[in-house]
Amino acid sequence: MAQAGPFSRAIVGMTGVMPRWFVRWISRRYVAGPHLDDAVRVMQRLQDEGACATVDVLGEEIQSLDEATFFLEEYRRVMAAIVEHGLDANLSIKPTAFGLLLDAEVGLQNIRLLVTEAAEHGMFVRLDMEDHRVTDDTIQVVTTLHAEGLTNVGTVLQGRLHRTGQDIEDLGVALGSNADHRICKGIYLEPEAIAHTSRSAITDATIACVRTALDRGAYVGIATHDDQIVSASLEHLGSLGISPTEDGRQPCPPVRPGKGPGYEFQMLLGVRGDLRRRLRSDGHRTRVYVPYGEKWYEYSIRRLKENPTVATQVVKAFLMPWTNRP
Ligand code: FDA
Repeated sequence: MAQAGPFSRAIVGMTGVMPRWFVRWISRRYVAGPHLDDAVRVMQRLQDEGACATVDVLGEEIQSLDEATFFLEEYRRVMAAIVEHGLDANLSIKPTAFGLLLDAEVGLQNIRLLVTEAAEHGMFVRLDMEDHRVTDDTIQVVTTLHAEGLTNVGTVLQGRLHRTGQDIEDLGVALGSNADHRICKGIYLEPEAIAHTSRSAITDATIACVRTALDRGAYVGIATHDDQIVSASLEHLGSLGISPTEDGRQPCPPVRPGKGPGYEFQMLLGVRGDLRRRLRSDGHRTRVYVPYGEKWYEYSIRRLKENPTVATQVVKAFLMPWTNRP
């Protein structure tokens, strides 16, 4: 996404006066609901469509370490629900919600507890990537846990950051064939000194990151709704001999539990369902990011403020539904 224009900023400026019911009404499409049951229902529906899921308990940076306990407990409930309902799903967590910014050691320990329990269920845990204050610490959590033998964890790498190409190389060395990245553009509007800021540069850099990660033997969650990135990724997958059923890379990376060969496409709930279903019907593995929780209002407003361009996309999806089916 490029830097926001006046239209996007105007919509964000109006969020302060938007009634809560109106925000809820709009966000229904993007948030499963306030409760875990809501997320389970959405995942069952997605499973019927052939898509798997990754669950996000809404909430981010916390003010006290006590709050991290809530997230640990809630994710334990999510894990239990996934197992109980036989869902093809894994977990997406915000490291700062586990305490990473308040106390890196405590944050690491909280995440370690969750990843250890997830490993017992053969479940993967994805560390969402937040803004640049926590990039190093988030990557460090992944390398530390892998070094301890917990390989069911990976993070997100943001194409817009200049550093990401090097991070992919370094993680390739540190994690070997267990490297498992989600690659996306990155939602946070980062300063020019550390990030690409134009739409085309961000798109090109994200495509380059997907290619490098695949070339280095990683499993790649290609997280985008951008047709250009999807096409470039499909082309590169083809050139490497990676298909929905086969991974032609040499040496051939191991198939991860609950995953297919080499890659999957990941999308946000409520966004570009048309594209997701098309990819699925062509045989590709698709995974939907399913957020739920009481903090839906804060989540919706925060997403708009972090990147006002999202506001334009939401309005466009609303006014021109044929361009963007849920
Ligand atoms: P782009 O923004 O150009 O969108 C392409 C098209 O998709 C738009 O034209 C529009 O039609 C549609 N679209 C996209 N977003 C929409 C929306 N909110 N509402 C309606 N339509 C929309 N970022 C990050 O910094 N850390 C993270 O951990 C993650 N995690 C993550 C997981 C998954 C599964 C996805 C799909 C994305 C993320 N992201 C993320 C967000 C990501 O960085 C990026 O901001 C968005 O995916 C939008 O980028 P696109 O590549 O989709 O392109």
